[in-house]
Amino acid sequence: MHYFEYKQGELYAEEVPLKQIAANTGVPTYVYSAATLRRHFKVFDQVFAGVDHLICFATKALSNLSVLRLFAAMGSGFDIVSVGELERCLRAGAQAQKIVFSGVGKTKEEIAAALKAGILMFNVESLPELYAIAEVAQSLGARAPISLRVNPALDPGTHPHISTGHRTSKFGVPLVQILDYYEQARKLDSLEVVGLSTHIGSQITEARPFREAGEKLIDIVLKLRARGFELKYLDLGGGVGIRYDDEFFDLADYARAIVEPLRELKLTLIAEPGRVIVGNAGVLLTRVLYVKDTDVKRFIVVDSAMNDLIRPSLYDAYHAIWPVEQRASAPLVVADVVGPICESGDFLARDRLLPLPQAGDLLAVMGAGAYGFVMASNYNSRPRPAEVIVDGNRWYVVRQRETVEDLMRGERLVDLSPE
Ligand code: LLP
Repeated sequence: MHYFEYKQGELYAEEVPLKQIAANTGVPTYVYSAATLRRHFKVFDQVFAGVDHLICFATKALSNLSVLRLFAAMGSGFDIVSVGELERCLRAGAQAQKIVFSGVGKTKEEIAAALKAGILMFNVESLPELYAIAEVAQSLGARAPISLRVNPALDPGTHPHISTGHRTSKFGVPLVQILDYYEQARKLDSLEVVGLSTHIGSQITEARPFREAGEKLIDIVLKLRARGFELKYLDLGGGVGIRYDDEFFDLADYARAIVEPLRELKLTLIAEPGRVIVGNAGVLLTRVLYVKDTDVKRFIVVDSAMNDLIRPSLYDAYHAIWPVEQRASAPLVVADVVGPICESGDFLARDRLLPLPQAGDLLAVMGAGAYGFVMASNYNSRPRPAEVIVDGNRWYVVRQRETVEDLMRGERLVDLSPE
């Protein structure tokens, strides 16, 4: 569910007509609903009711400062994967002691910055990384809290580009090595072993992979306890899928698959949800430039493109496309919705049944809150969209649209000899 609804044929974000936002800020623009963000955060948090837990929102899914600030105010921690995300979270008001640092390629500079900030723990993915963290901690006279991220070797049943828990992925420590890595970690004085973590993939809409991951986590925790390790945290990662089209995954099934079985371990459970909190809390507003009919196909050419929202091009992802103003007379047609970028892979929808829009009409690309703006680029020298948050009957531009001038910042004109 979300709070983007039609009222008398006009699409609103909460109490604000999207048309009004487009008229004021122009398009393309990402619009997020604060009520939806709050609601999803609370509902996900409820899944862990009665269990010691910490929600660490996956910053990478939507990292606008005002969104992070809202979650921080709601008590959220954050999962980060770069010093850039660390800085964003801190600037947004996050508590460092609620930040976990994931990722296979943390640099020594990033490790040092996170240690100085005083984060909760590093989720470590390889032996060389473990040594790097130990070395940086030692040089700073600090002790680094770490967990090892296990790769549970299972099939997450999702798109290959967003699967991380299968054996051949670059993520996590293989099951066969995990106990040995813990033994290595305990030999290093500048490390404090505090947890175990995993993350098996994204947009998972069935219980099985979570159940399998849970079983493997329990097995590892018990083995570690037998070896005298006293863990505090068990980090389940993110991965809960949402409805883009007709998918359905009940959070109660997630709870039964992984939260309930793990509660008996009496550890603090950490979750790193991204998409399930913000995915359907955002839309990308765009305007129809042309309706182009060829002898074989119809194209709706809009002013946003794969640089603004890359998910359809990259993962063949489905995003519903709704007219901002419903037109009773519009016939239903099948069309590709495409952007202005010079690539055949530049589309927002293919062979989509939708009411035929006219040039100048506004469309809302739904479910664009997660991995939307954050994956936007400047390809074809296109400035990235503005971002707006609606809260009830108020709305705020929380990121200005980039300008062409912004795109050339940092570039230098050098006159090279033509010969
Ligand atoms: N924790 C870790 C360590 C992760 O790598 C991720 C996502 C998450 C948590 C959050 O996962 P979520 O709850 O959002 O599924 N760009 C892709 C998704 C990439 C996900 C990467 N990691 C997409 O647009 O579908």
